Amino acid sequence: MGVRFRGWGSAVPDRVVTNDELSLTLDTSDAWITERTGIRERRVGGSAKSLGVLAGQRALAASHVGVGDIDFLVVATTTPDRITPATAPLIAAEMGLTCPAMDLNAACSGFVYALRTAHGLLETGQRRILVIGSENLTRWVDWSDRNMAVLLGDGAGAVVLEYDATGTDLLSFALGADGTAADLLTCEHDGYFQMDGREVFRRAVRVVVQSAEQALADADVKADQISLVVPHQANIRIIQAATQRLGIEMERAVVVLDRYGNTSSSSIPLAMVDAIESGRVHTGDYALITGFGAGMTWASAVVRWS
Ligand code: UT7
Repeated sequence: MGVRFRGWGSAVPDRVVTNDELSLTLDTSDAWITERTGIRERRVGGSAKSLGVLAGQRALAASHVGVGDIDFLVVATTTPDRITPATAPLIAAEMGLTCPAMDLNAACSGFVYALRTAHGLLETGQRRILVIGSENLTRWVDWSDRNMAVLLGDGAGAVVLEYDATGTDLLSFALGADGTAADLLTCEHDGYFQMDGREVFRRAVRVVVQSAEQALADADVKADQISLVVPHQANIRIIQAATQRLGIEMERAVVVLDRYGNTSSSSIPLAMVDAIESGRVHTGDYALITGFGAGMTWASAVVRWS
């Protein structure tokens, strides 16, 4: 059974909020945020629905398929516009899709969890699936809390996955979850994001490395064969530590967090689309996609671009 990436697209709100702008109202500085996280600015605005619709439409256009060609819509989001209905049916309606549509919440691992879900659906007879990661994280930010306010941003990314009997782009997955660590990163109803940053950092490096090694072994691909790492965009130091432990040069990692901050489920597709559009992806290249987040959850996949 094979799965191909047929097309992709992304969307971010127009409003740019720089570190200097945050420093006007918070006890922080561009130097601290840049050194500790790598983030220079983030985009703020829109909704999970509006950003998801834009990214989805762009992915469909790039795939040269119509709305009638999509069999299923999976939307990875941590920040649905409402508790119910899910955001996926709203996106589907706006796009003119009439297929089944559902949300999936695995926090920052959500996009890879959604790829895994789509892969399973394609195995059982679906032919084309639209997978969207879309987040409006800043709606749930306490702008007086410097611990979180400097980290998060909004955006969306999408791919069309297509069944192909002749070969596959998705070679392996390694997913996991540990709910005993749930309290490390939370957002209660009517509350704001809160995090034990140091502990999340420590565990993140560990689970990224473990799941990446598992996915590489399952795909029978060695670290030195990986041309591109598409990591969750939380902190440049996490990406540096993980790539170093995996034995992959940092230059192979895609970094967009300097422009977008941490966009949770959207960060991996935003990075993936950026890499493709900037010419960093070539036919036959192996890529490692890896994320981690609240839950805790983690998820890695090995891809061979056709
Ligand atoms: O998407 C998945 C979830 N998110 C993550 O993966 C994030 C994981 N964690 C991290 O990225 C980092 O832990 C942070 C960026 C959140 C924090 O960086 P850190 O190097 O772990 O800093 P820290 O929490 O150890 O704090 C160091 C100091 C503290 O001051 P004291 O106690 O040393 O006096 C903080 O109060 O930095 C202070 N601090 C700040 N200072 C200026 C914390 N936030 C800020 C800030 N500006 N925004």
